[in-house]
Amino acid sequence: EKNGYPHFMLKEIFEQPLVVRRILSTLERDKDKFIFEDIKNVDISWEKIRKVFIVGCGTSYHAGYYAKFLWEKELPYFIEVELASQMHHRNLNIPEETLFITISQSGETADVISTLRKVKENGFKVLSLVNNPQSTVARESDYFINLRAGVEIGVAATKTFMAELVYLELLKEYIKSRLYNIKIDLDKWNMLPTYLESYLSQIKDRVFEVAKKYYHKRNFLYLARGKNFPLALEGALKLKEISYIHAEGIPAGEMKHGPIALLDPETPVFGIVYKDETYSKMINNLEEAKARKAPIIAIGNEWDEKLESLVDDLIPVPNVDPFYYPYMGAMVLQLFAYHVANLLGREIDQPRNLAKSVTVE
Ligand code: M6R
Repeated sequence: EKNGYPHFMLKEIFEQPLVVRRILSTLERDKDKFIFEDIKNVDISWEKIRKVFIVGCGTSYHAGYYAKFLWEKELPYFIEVELASQMHHRNLNIPEETLFITISQSGETADVISTLRKVKENGFKVLSLVNNPQSTVARESDYFINLRAGVEIGVAATKTFMAELVYLELLKEYIKSRLYNIKIDLDKWNMLPTYLESYLSQIKDRVFEVAKKYYHKRNFLYLARGKNFPLALEGALKLKEISYIHAEGIPAGEMKHGPIALLDPETPVFGIVYKDETYSKMINNLEEAKARKAPIIAIGNEWDEKLESLVDDLIPVPNVDPFYYPYMGAMVLQLFAYHVANLLGREIDQPRNLAKSVTVE
């Protein structure tokens, strides 16, 4: 069943291009716009919505947090993201024109189910992204998008995270095309699986090499800004849950408000530093880390000499359309956590104290 891979997690990491291809195969041209299979059953008046409230746990929460940055940049909605476990303690003074989106791989996460029921009781519509169409969340939501990632066995979510990112971005493109009558660049999407495939084979040895250099460290700080920050959270979560190494995702701008005190030569910093709107501030933050002698690993653009001279280990993304970076970066973070955990001899597919589906609040 593992197709020759030593762990399900590694198999599932390498399945990601295929998952994306499967999702994109449900896309059809609709005159000069596009439509995808599951959206046909979603009967929402997108022009009436003012607010979108996204809820999930763990990795699914990170996907929602990432989508917040994408959506609020291009859609006329106020976007809020919350952990499902925090929703118990929130007061729903929310305007009527709010759409709830819940995200859950299993569709059985107790906190997500209770949020779903609570907001439905309050009269809101819920659209869910779920990997199991038979699950409680899928059945009880008003609208449902099947993530189509296939069964995920490793406790660490990998290919379902990819499917969540893809569907959230596709959904944004779909809404944008409907609200503004804009044509969407489908060629860019169609290249995604091929790019991910070649990127995986290009970086797999490099990531292993970097993991070998750092796997004995006991603390890692993942730094990023803006839309890259949820990816830093996800990288840190992957590392801690399967390797049992303490790892934190920190918005780089917050370092000087406290966490910078943690830096020393034993605490590697893992930066996400693409040539995007966060670049120059990220470089400053990494310079501050370097001055404290922290070893620095970074995902960044290839041929970025400035970054290369600053960091100890660069894991490059090719200089393609920035649209592709988060998808590529997510795979690097997963592979890095995998190799570190494997080098430490951890139970990768079944980490201690964790269950694949969290059915208690
Ligand atoms: O099934 P869900 O997406 O609702 O699960 C949410 C979290 O329990 C899950 O993402 C968890 O954090 C993973 N083990 C992360 O890899």
